[in-house]
Parts: sequence; structure tokens; C-alpha cells
Amino acid sequence: MSDSFYPGTFICIEGIDGSGKTTHARALVKRLCSLGYDAVYTTEPTRYSIPGRKLRESFFAPERLPVEEEFRLFLEDRIIHLKDEVIPQLEDNKIIITDRYYFSSVAYQGSRGLDWKYILEENLKVALVPDLVIILDIPVKVAIERIASDRTEGVNTFEKEESLQKVREIYMLLADEYPNLIHLRNTNKTIEEVNDELLEHLQNFLRQKS
Ligand code: TMP
Repeated sequence: MSDSFYPGTFICIEGIDGSGKTTHARALVKRLCSLGYDAVYTTEPTRYSIPGRKLRESFFAPERLPVEEEFRLFLEDRIIHLKDEVIPQLEDNKIIITDRYYFSSVAYQGSRGLDWKYILEENLKVALVPDLVIILDIPVKVAIERIASDRTEGVNTFEKEESLQKVREIYMLLADEYPNLIHLRNTNKTIEEVNDELLEHLQNFLRQKS
């Protein structure tokens, strides 16, 4: 599949848990809309598909699902997300900002020992390559502190320090490998400063694309 089939723009925001992805993705959609762009927010895993719900339930289970099963569920959920939300809205010329996509599978299921190149290849068989990926980078210790203070339910089994370190390493590797697709953004500033910078980056990107 190729992104060039559709008139819309497909952007994904990635990063380790606690990197502020959701806050930034939602704020960017809101700010783009107020500037007159037709932007929408989507997220993975979805909250409505059967594999998406199964995954969300597994986040707080005492034992992780076997990695191959987890990987397959994310892939099934992704196919539904693409078919139900992404493609129809790209056809409709919208700007989609998705909070996680297949780069999360590469980084997270890769951190559990599955070969990251295999994960990427399997995803590329079924998934649309986005127009732009933004990885929000943050030191793992800061991310864990944020998660612990923000969430009433605490840190889940995906969010332990050692595993997040591996996730972050794979994100860095991806950013190195695909510099034309991936924009790596350090988030060591206030939320407002980072969001302003991201908005500026997106606006430049959208100007160049049109
Ligand atoms: P969230 O907290 O950003 O909603 O993400 C939920 C968790 O799902 C997060 O810990 C990362 C994980 N995840 C994967 O492990 N693989 C994937 O492909 C995706 C989309 C998410």
C-alpha cells in the first residue's frame, strides 16, 4: 500500500509511555482545527475492536500475553483501524493524527524479543505508510515518574523501566534508519513549548506537501 493514493495526510505520533503523546496529539488536532485545517485524532489500540479490547484488558493483567499473540492482536486491530477510520478519512481529505501506529509494534513487541525487522515487514504487508512520524523522546526515568504521578491505576505491565529502556532504544534506531520519514523531537521543555514547536513543524510539513 502507498500513502500517495489518498488526498488526506496521515501523521503518527509515537513515543514511550509517559512521553506526552496523547496530550500533544490531541492539542495538535485542536490547534490545527482552529487554524482551519480539517484534522482528526485516532488511536491504537482502538477501544472498539475485539482485538483492541482484548489488548487493553491485557495491560493490567498480572501476566503479559505471549509476544507473538500480542503482536498478532495489534496487527488485527491495526487493520480494523485503517479500514474503519484512517482510509475513509484520508479519502475525505482529512489530516489524521494517530496516537501510535506500527512503529509502536516494532518498538514494544521488538523490546520483548521479536525481531524488529520481521515486525516491520509483517506490518508493511497490510499497513499504509504514513506521511510523517513524530517520535517524542524523553528519558525513561522522567517518563516513569510522570506515569506514576498522573495515573490513579499506576504503572502497567507495559511500562516497567527496563522494558521502556529497550522500547526507547528501538525508537532511536528507527529514527536513525528512516530520517526522511521520522522526525525525532526531544520533549525536555514545557508542554506548551514542545507543542508550539510541533505545530510549527506540522504546518511547514503541510505547506511543503500541498
Ligand atoms: P497508550 O498508553 O499510548 O494508549 O498505549 C497502550 C500500550 O500499548 C502502550 O504501552 C504501548 C502498547 N502498544 C504496543 O505494545 N504495540 C502496539 O503496536 C501499539 C499500538 C501499542
